[in-house]
Amino acid sequence: MPKKKTPVSRKPSTPRHHQALGIDVGGSGIKAAPVNLKTGELLQERYRIPTPKSGDPKEMIGIMGQLIDHFRWKNPVGIGFPGVIQNQTILTAANLNDDWVGTNLAKALVRFTKAPVSCLNDADAAALCEMKLGGGAEARGVVLLLTIGTGLGSAMFVDGRLVPNTEFGHLPFPHPIKKRWGSAETAAADSARKREDLNWRDWSKRFNDYLQTLYSLTWPSKIILGGGVTKKPERFLPYLNLPIPIEISTFKNQSGIVGAALSTL
Ligand code: BGC
Repeated sequence: MPKKKTPVSRKPSTPRHHQALGIDVGGSGIKAAPVNLKTGELLQERYRIPTPKSGDPKEMIGIMGQLIDHFRWKNPVGIGFPGVIQNQTILTAANLNDDWVGTNLAKALVRFTKAPVSCLNDADAAALCEMKLGGGAEARGVVLLLTIGTGLGSAMFVDGRLVPNTEFGHLPFPHPIKKRWGSAETAAADSARKREDLNWRDWSKRFNDYLQTLYSLTWPSKIILGGGVTKKPERFLPYLNLPIPIEISTFKNQSGIVGAALSTL
């Protein structure tokens, strides 16, 4: 069951063709809600099932089926998945399980729904939401959206068009304590903060180094941050220092669900 109540649309009815179920697959939870595709509002309370530690595809596909059943869902389904996805097929699953590689997620779900299923990278989904309905809607030039959680997700929009599967979280990055190179994700995701028991200031410094690297490589006009840590931005925003605006995603950690649903359009 969801821990916290999420805001839900109070409007009496949304035409069926304006609705899709958004599923956001994360390293710690798989979350879903029906979404009004015009406004991005959640039409029912979000439902969350913990991600199995194994990251096993069969188990996780079963959970996606449970979520579809929970909402007795018959309309299109959109899924944001934490890995590279091309033609509905998963090509990487860094924080889950390599058995995912080669899985066609849309085909795997046909036993749960006859409706169309679309899949995309989870950070791309969150960015789709922000660019269509949130703080990126008017933005031109290069806009980056980063999700901070178990992994470090990235999405890049150029003049409103998505460049899919950027995977900037896997940029080589020097680990400040271990003094060797690894990925940015291993050093600066929220999971690194927890694993290494870093205080917010120390973690923010690392994250800021990562932002500066990204800035010097892609020259965005702004960077939007999403993911669980953005619930309390005052803990890290004061330590970030870049010559462009850094904003918190308008839809907060709902942007993954909303963007997944929008991907069905
Ligand atoms: C994955 C990305 C994903 C990010 C956030 C990374 O480990 O490679 O595809 O967007 O985690 O979930």
